[in-house]
Amino acid sequence: MINEAFPESALYLFDTFEGFDGRDIAADRQYDLSKINAAAIKELVKDTSVQTVLSRMPFPEKCVVKKGYFPDTTEGMGENVRFAFVSIDADLYTPILEGLKYFYPRMARMGMIFVHDYGFSGVGAGRAVDEFCGAAGIIPIPVADEFHSVMIVRH
Ligand SMILES: C[S@@+](CC[C@H](N)C(=O)[O-])C[C@H]1O[C@@H](n2cnc3c(N)ncnc32)[C@H](O)[C@@H]1O
Repeated sequence: MINEAFPESALYLFDTFEGFDGRDIAADRQYDLSKINAAAIKELVKDTSVQTVLSRMPFPEKCVVKKGYFPDTTEGMGENVRFAFVSIDADLYTPILEGLKYFYPRMARMGMIFVHDYGFSGVGAGRAVDEFCGAAGIIPIPVADEFHSVMIVRH
């Protein structure tokens, strides 16, 4: 949908394409966040491939695949890159917090970050967003979807 909405823009796809990383699952347990069954979801989300994802894109030539562990995959992005819209749906506390730290300073003014699962009980998104926004003095805007997502606007 993002690729369809922004046909002129590059769409960066950051994902392992192999499911969660053990380090992130362990960190969630440490914070007592993984009431979701991370192991079961890992099985679900790893049933994909770069090829499958690109085959569903209306403009695959606009996609830039960053396969691997985030935030390691931000290496080499260049300091001048700017984002108009970012969707963070990484399910676990560590990659969501790292995503906010990486993307927020690189957003275009009034650009938006959509964070899935913010109010979804037992998922690290709530803690990551509260920690990041609390420290930065940002008030996230609630979205009325079933996962209580939020939008964060870059001022
Ligand atoms: C609910 S799926 C979302 C899939 C898709 N990337 C999207 O945003 O629509 C959660 C995804 O987060 C990815 N993920 C979680 N932690 C990650 C990390 N540290 N680095 C890269 N991908 C990660 C998993 O591989 C999984 O595909």
